[in-house]
Amino acid sequence: MQIRTAVTTALASAGLVATGLLVGNRVNLLPVDASSNAATYDSLFKVLFSIGTTLFLGVAIVLIYSLMRFRRPPGDGADGIAIEGNLPLEIVWTAIPAVVVLFVGIYSYDIYERMGGMAPLMDHAAMDHAAMGHEAMDHGAMASAPTPAPRIWGGIGPATTAADPAATTVNGAAPLPTLPVEVTAMQFAFIFHYPDNGITSGELHVPLGQPVELRMEARDVIHAFWVPQFRLKQDVIPGQTTVLSFTATRPGSYPIVCAELCGAYHGGMRSTVVVHEPEAFEAWRAQNTPLTST
Ligand code: CUA
Repeated sequence: MQIRTAVTTALASAGLVATGLLVGNRVNLLPVDASSNAATYDSLFKVLFSIGTTLFLGVAIVLIYSLMRFRRPPGDGADGIAIEGNLPLEIVWTAIPAVVVLFVGIYSYDIYERMGGMAPLMDHAAMDHAAMGHEAMDHGAMASAPTPAPRIWGGIGPATTAADPAATTVNGAAPLPTLPVEVTAMQFAFIFHYPDNGITSGELHVPLGQPVELRMEARDVIHAFWVPQFRLKQDVIPGQTTVLSFTATRPGSYPIVCAELCGAYHGGMRSTVVVHEPEAFEAWRAQNTPLTST
């Protein structure tokens, strides 16, 4: 009897996990992916969605089964049997969530690190290093500095340049020169400025396949720059520059959403990012460059 229970439990658990994995990998709740960061982010989402589906189905099925199976028979007014303590069960239901939470924590940290989330901390360390009387980062100093962990190109933080040996794009090629864009957030708009040729625009226009680095600052309160299709979100803060970098991988128009409650019209603080084919981007740039510049 005990063996039968154990086998049934094992089979049911295997079925649950398989269903969770199937749903997590097949059902796509995310919008279309349009940047080099998307694959990294989506792999984490798939894992979390699989775990969530498995737990939800497990709990819901046991709950519904128990409601039917252990329903009070008509006319039975007595108390239920008092059951107290089951050490093996308690160990199991502590161990499973502990393992799941630890795994999710470590894996999330890894993804965040690969998207450059720890780069600002590394930059601070480098600045402290420079402040301690060392010459500005020449190659000798770079060699003595601890090698940063390899990460995918782009994400949270500055763009990795072609000079950086760790820099690779999605397809493994050295990245094109980075297009810098300055982003100013204010109640209730984003303004984009292209320092290379003096364009100021209410919409962000970027070329397909070329690295873009956004340096962002707010005029008034904290805002957040979010493009769901790029899988990127970053706070925009008064008096402190934050950086996002990405390579657009799919032409089209995508929403830019302010993702930080910033006042009465926060909900209306939206813009658009237009990803052009390189030639179309050049045309846009030529058309919009002010005559006074260059
Ligand atoms: Cu800006 Cu919300």
